[in-house]
Amino acid sequence: MNVNGNTNFLGEVQAKRIAQNVLNLPTLPTVVAKMMQIMDDSRTTVAELSQLISSDQVLSAKLLRLANSAYYGIPRKVSTLDLAIIMLGFENLKTLALGLSVIDRFSDNWNDAFDYTEFWEHAFGCAVASSMVARDICPDNKSEAFVAGLLHDVGKLILSQFAKRHFAAVIKNVSAYDTDFYSVEKAILGVTHADIAAWFAEKWQFPEKLISALQYHHTPAALTKDNELAACVHFGDYLVRRAGVGFCAGKNMPEFDNSVFADKQLMRNELGEINFLMYDEQLHLELEEADTFLNIIARGINHAID
Ligand SMILES: [Fe+2]
Ligand SMILES: [Fe+2]
Repeated sequence: MNVNGNTNFLGEVQAKRIAQNVLNLPTLPTVVAKMMQIMDDSRTTVAELSQLISSDQVLSAKLLRLANSAYYGIPRKVSTLDLAIIMLGFENLKTLALGLSVIDRFSDNWNDAFDYTEFWEHAFGCAVASSMVARDICPDNKSEAFVAGLLHDVGKLILSQFAKRHFAAVIKNVSAYDTDFYSVEKAILGVTHADIAAWFAEKWQFPEKLISALQYHHTPAALTKDNELAACVHFGDYLVRRAGVGFCAGKNMPEFDNSVFADKQLMRNELGEINFLMYDEQLHLELEEADTFLNIIARGINHAID
């Protein structure tokens, strides 16, 4: 088999079967689904939102703790949900609630063949790295970049839990052909974890921007407009792989597409090339700072792994 060629082993039939599995996945929790709905309505008040969120005690507690984490740098203690909503803002709240729900949904059903601790380490690292890159490329979308980074490889998680045979076949070929996960998926499944993540995100009615960031995180240049978020995740993913944070099914680095950054404001050296070393350093510091924040999000994953 030539995994770099167009040989499509399992082909379209398999792709459709996987798509069907994704469509049968559990739906977005009711409280969060309702949140998405009412937050799109500009007349929604903080009190209405707070009342809705408080019906889910676990979610309320997590959002409060997140609002109080050093990551947001809010100087005084946020003790009520109303205040947390105001401080975080609707956009942050929306993306955080989505991120937390996804983690929650996939904390059961573990498959022994996959190292979930490493997976989430990679995902958290990518969340921090993507929002760090967003500061340079699209500062208004830092929180979306965080969640897009956190969930960028959710397609791998879905494959590992709901298409176990396909996942095992990909893993086997990644090591046999010493190549990267994405190329093997394309060659033997005909779909990639990026497509699967996008199907899932559509089903969960993620905001459009987030869906395309997940779908194009390996190929941001394929997006002719509004590619900033996908570019942030693409870059963030590359940075965490460089830093060796977590492990994500296959040791080979994903391909880095320089072209999408040609018109973007980034830290560059005197030759005009992206200054990766400076980004490496910055990421190191950001990861240290985000530690408690990530711990709050990760609660629930840890207990599933133990
Ligand atoms: Fe990926
Ligand atoms: Fe990744």
